[in-house]
Amino acid sequence: MDNHIILKVSRGMAAFMTCITLAACAAGTVTTPERTLKTVYGDKFLIGTAMNARQVAGEDSAAVEVVKRHFSAVVPENCMKCENIHPEEGRYDFRDADALVDFAEAGGLTVTGHCLIWHSQLAPWFTVDDKGQPVSAEVLKERMKEHITTLVSRYKGRVKGWDVVNEAIMDDGSYRKSPFYEILGEEYIPLAFQYAHEADPDAELYYNDYSMSIPAKRDAVVKLVQSLKEQGLRVDAVGMQAHIGMDYPGIDDFEQSMLAFAATGVNVMITEWDMSALPTVSRTADVSDTVAFREAMNPYPDALPDSVSEAWNARMRSFFELFLKHADFVTRVTAWGVTDGDSWKNDFPVPGRTDYPLLFDRDYQPKPFVQALCNETE
Ligand code: G3I
Repeated sequence: MDNHIILKVSRGMAAFMTCITLAACAAGTVTTPERTLKTVYGDKFLIGTAMNARQVAGEDSAAVEVVKRHFSAVVPENCMKCENIHPEEGRYDFRDADALVDFAEAGGLTVTGHCLIWHSQLAPWFTVDDKGQPVSAEVLKERMKEHITTLVSRYKGRVKGWDVVNEAIMDDGSYRKSPFYEILGEEYIPLAFQYAHEADPDAELYYNDYSMSIPAKRDAVVKLVQSLKEQGLRVDAVGMQAHIGMDYPGIDDFEQSMLAFAATGVNVMITEWDMSALPTVSRTADVSDTVAFREAMNPYPDALPDSVSEAWNARMRSFFELFLKHADFVTRVTAWGVTDGDSWKNDFPVPGRTDYPLLFDRDYQPKPFVQALCNETE
């Protein structure tokens, strides 16, 4: 076939396709796929969000709509934590967790289990005896094993991976002196990974923590992961929570940590992404000081000024671009909540502030950087 004929044939095909498309459009049968985070970036990594029990129960249908359109993965914000799911010895309450897993399955969303062993939101009974004294190492091992085995087995094949241990390392790189550490020492971490793997050998297992850009913490987490791997334990990813602010951390420091974790041979997950738009305040500051201080700490009760919004969107976009740059080892990017109104940041570290940390605003609309990312083609 000479070039002239090829040209004619291809023009004919194009005209034919245009007719089909026009006819189909006229018949209302062709729709352009909606450009959402999931449809545009879903081939790079899982795009997740934390969900609260109210959303899963369908009490916030607009949030559910956002989840279904934009996200490919979910994680329970609270309902799988020990104090919720295992409030008393021998008594589990699986209702909210079951509902979340059912919801995810029905919508084709990947579930991460959060979290198996954490010092916070730990049921009060878990590490003490009936006199309130710390239990022995043997008893704590049994309790950990029973708790982990029960959760992981219940959702076997339905939860893709688990935050096995959460926040075990302090910012200075030392081990957190949690009740687990005080009773079992460092050994509690490998034990947790071992129990989780025994309960579901196919489940991915993660170590998850915050402030991961701090060099001392980065080094300690690298050492921890290496040690787990040397012991022959399964570790699939390090979860970098990414509760960031307008002035911390440096994006280069964040990238250094991503690279350091990936260099141990595991994947990296951005597990709890949000960015406060409010002034940074130390957890130890006296936040109830004066009315003037409180007002200064809550400067945008009605809306973000344009200049702050622009800076916020630009910085969030830079982080998303960093995640995309390393999509070869970043396997999930999860926002810690659906809309600004849902965020824990409205009450931390100062209660009652109005913050703007998430990808969707209080009216369920995508923030400008999300909108821009969705509208761009590569
Ligand atoms: O459920 C009770 C409710 O019955 C009660 O009336 C109400 C009164 O305060 O409290 C409710 O519990 C709150 C719970 O969230 C559910 O909304 C707790 O007070 C509150 O402390 C708890 O906060 C959660 C926080 O973890 C606890 O540490 C946040 O929602 C949750 O976003 C946050 O998530 C953690 C991650 O799991 C781990 N990484 C850090 C991240 C932020 O702290």
